[in-house]
Amino acid sequence: MVVLRGVSQLLALWAHFYGRTTWTRELDRLAAVHRWVVAGLTLIFASGVAMMLAEIGSFATSVVFWVKMGLVALLIGNGYARLRVEVALRQGSPARWSWFRRTSIASLVLWFLILLFGTLLHSTT
Ligand code: HEM
Repeated sequence: MVVLRGVSQLLALWAHFYGRTTWTRELDRLAAVHRWVVAGLTLIFASGVAMMLAEIGSFATSVVFWVKMGLVALLIGNGYARLRVEVALRQGSPARWSWFRRTSIASLVLWFLILLFGTLLHSTT
């Protein structure tokens, strides 16, 4: 009985540490992706602002342009929310995984919408 209890406690301890390791590793991997995303977005923003300034007269009155800017603002806000969720997960709040999933899906949807509105912008102005 004592041996069995000892083995089960050992297994529980192992599962606890193993679970924590993969969990933290996955968050580290995601944090590494952030650097690439932020660098890419910075370049896209810089080229977007340059294109906007080249024809400010026509973009300032374009509904498509302002919808796209609204979507960009939502993408940034969502990115911030996702970062906060990651911090909470690191501090050991597993309930936040559902929010992590939601903000990830929102990010993907917003990204494709911005791509669509960027292309629309090019063909409507
Ligand atoms: C502050 C952020 C941004 C600004 C000010 C901006 C501005 C612009 C402007 C003015 C154009 C029109 C260019 C033209 O018709 O000559 C454009 C096109 C485009 N943008 Fe953005 N943009 C921004 C962010 C983004 C992001 C984050 C994405 C990607 C998700 C994106 C994707 C595109 C695409 C695909 C086009 C069409 C390019 C083409 O067909 O030649 N933009 N953007």
